[in-house]
Parts: sequence; C-alpha cells; structure tokens
Amino acid sequence: MKTATVAPSIRISCPYKDCSGCNYLHLSYGEQISLKKSQLEELLSRKGLEFPSIEILSAGAAHLRDRLDFSLQGGRLGLYGKDTHDIVDISVCAQLSPELQAWLEEFRCYQWPVEKGSIRLRMGPSGEKGVWLDFANIDIKKILDEATLLRRLQKVAFVEIGQRRKVPVWTESGYKLQDPELNVWFQTWMNDQPVNLYCHVASFTQPSLKANTLIAEKISAWVNQYPDARVIEFGSGIGNLTMPALAAASSVVACEIDALSLEGLEKSVSMLPANLKEHADKLTIHRGDFQKKILKDFSEFDGILANPPRSGLMGFLDPLLELQENQRPQFFIYMSCFPESMAVDLAKLKLCGYVMKECALLDQFPQSTHYEVLTLLERKKT
Ligand SMILES: C[S@@+](CC[C@H](N)C(=O)[O-])C[C@H]1O[C@@H](n2cnc3c(N)ncnc32)[C@H](O)[C@@H]1O
Repeated sequence: MKTATVAPSIRISCPYKDCSGCNYLHLSYGEQISLKKSQLEELLSRKGLEFPSIEILSAGAAHLRDRLDFSLQGGRLGLYGKDTHDIVDISVCAQLSPELQAWLEEFRCYQWPVEKGSIRLRMGPSGEKGVWLDFANIDIKKILDEATLLRRLQKVAFVEIGQRRKVPVWTESGYKLQDPELNVWFQTWMNDQPVNLYCHVASFTQPSLKANTLIAEKISAWVNQYPDARVIEFGSGIGNLTMPALAAASSVVACEIDALSLEGLEKSVSMLPANLKEHADKLTIHRGDFQKKILKDFSEFDGILANPPRSGLMGFLDPLLELQENQRPQFFIYMSCFPESMAVDLAKLKLCGYVMKECALLDQFPQSTHYEVLTLLERKKT
C-alpha cells in the first residue's frame, strides 16, 4: 500500500461546464492540494489549535470513485447543474474508476419509464456490478410489473430497490421483493491483507477502494503505536476502520446507530480468513445512539477511534469531559470528511488535554472542494 505520486501540474478536463459536481477544475492538481491544505490550516488556526505539519495523502488526481450517486430526471442521468434544478446528462466522468465508467456506459443503455429518481452504481472489489434504484413506490411497481427491463439488468448486475434496499426476485407469478442481501461491496485491510466488507449497494462506504487503502494503512499505523490498546470506536459503520484497528489492538468496542451496517460488520467478522479469525473475539459491537448515551466508561479504554457523520461527535464527548485528565484514554484518532465540525470537536479535545500529534489530508475527492482529514491526538502526560 503506497501513496501514488501525482504530477502537480496535471489538469483534469471535463466536457460538462454546467455540472455542479467539481469546483476546482480550473486548478491544476498541485494547486488544488495547496488550496485544500491552506484551508485546513486556516480552519485549525482559527479554532486556536496547534497542529503538526500536514501530510498529504493522494491515491491519484482522478478516476478514484467506485460508487456514484446520480439523479434521473426526464431521461437525463447525472448531477444537478450549477444554479438550476435541471440534471446535466453525464456519460463520462473523470471521478469514476475505469471499471465504474464502463458500468455507467452500460447502464445508460437502459431507458427507465420513470420521470424522477436516484440511482447508485457501484463496483465491488472483484469487479461485481451493483445498482440501487431509489425510485418512488409507484415507479417501483411500474418497473416490477413491466419486468423485462429489470430481468435484463439482473443478468449483468446485482439490483437493490427503494429505501428499504429490497432485492427483486423473479418467480412464476412475477416479481417479489425480498429482504436486503449482504454482499461484498467494499474492502478494507488488516495489516497488509485485504478484508472483504459485506454490505448493501446502498450502504455508506468510503468512495474509493484505492484511496481506502491509504485510510486503512494510516489507522493501522497509528493504533500500532500503542501496543495492546483497548479501543472504543464511534460510528463504525460496516467496519472499515474497525478491522484495521482490530488487527493492532487488544480489543475494539464498535458503537454504531445503523442496524443494517452492523449486520454487515457481523458478517464480515464471521467471514474473516482463517489466519485473521483470532481477531474476531476481540470485537464487541454496541448498537445505539451514542451521541445520547455512551454505555461504557471511557476510563476503561486506551484509545478512541471516531469517524462521525457531518454533524461531528456532539454529545459523544461529554463523558470524556467529566473524567479526571489522567483517566482519559491516551490517544484519540479522528477521521472526518467535514473539517468544520471536526475543528469544533478538536477544540473540545484540546480542553480535555489532547494535542494533535499527526495530521493527514487525504484527497479522496479530487476536483471538488471536499477532502478527508485524519488526525492522531495524544493526551498530554500529567
Ligand atoms: C462517516 S460514517 C463512518 C463509517 C465507517 N467508519 C467507514 O469508514 O465506512 C459515520 C457513521 O456514524 C454512524 N452514526 C451517526 N450518528 C451516530 C450516532 N448518534 N451514534 C452512533 N453512530 C452514529 C453512521 O451510521 C455511520 O455509519
């Protein structure tokens, strides 16, 4: 697992001038990285935070994404245009991995009898094609009744339908919708070994398999700095960070609100390859809203691993504030795609005695204003 070397002068071209997806196309890749880095530095400084030099992690200047979320509107499939409510029809996108680009081209040959809807296309780690058709119930009924389009699609891809991620199954009396099915749609790493993550096409995953190797590598390297650590994790999702942490830690307590994600995590753990099975017993899973109530006393842990939603950690940190400084876990790993809420949490962590020891900016959304931040904080010795 190595960071790709990207020529800073590279510029990515896009034929869709009206698409709202990418705002930094006018900048070279090097200029984009410099801008993102200085934005992060400015944000952290504004919050009065001291930070180490920011490491840049990049998996490439384009073609990273293995899932896309497009809207369908009046026969057009793409993203909203700048300042309009109209969809820009997109057939080629430099955000997509070559495999996903090919899948998009193939998928665009299907004409859906639906005025409006959302579509996710996804590529699995072994080249599996997935699609989530998130249409209104009336449109779902229409395509189930029509049947031929769906039957054709199911010959080439795994299909999920609607908000409840149901799987259409063809029977003698027509289509029936069955419960969601867990399959391998993403991959993380335990040390240098890839680990399959079971989830749904519709599940939350990081956007890119390639960029995710850099995330897993960082989590693993940081947890490894604290031998035999007992770790508590907020927002484990399907276990993308849980698994690399588990390989290095003596135990991990994964806290997550979403039951479907946890079903995926449980299956992934049960399917670990034989040489990694020993780690399964080190994992405990808790389901609940951990912004409201944390089941465990933080003083039982050596480290906290958090990858919260855009809203940040909010109430999750309250029990930490109540502890004596020397009872607080020694380290805190925080990963976020929303630096603004992260900076608010980092300011609270500073009050708890944590200092930023390492910080990395992972550019997993090139050409866009977004980026991921990973940071390792350590409690000052008292
Ligand atoms: C950014 S995702 C991280 C998922 C995972 N770390 C990954 O890399 O795929 C944030 C996760 O936090 C979970 N979450 C959001 N609010 C929560 C809460 N109040 N309590 C527990 N988990 C929560 C979401 O369901 C989601 O799985």
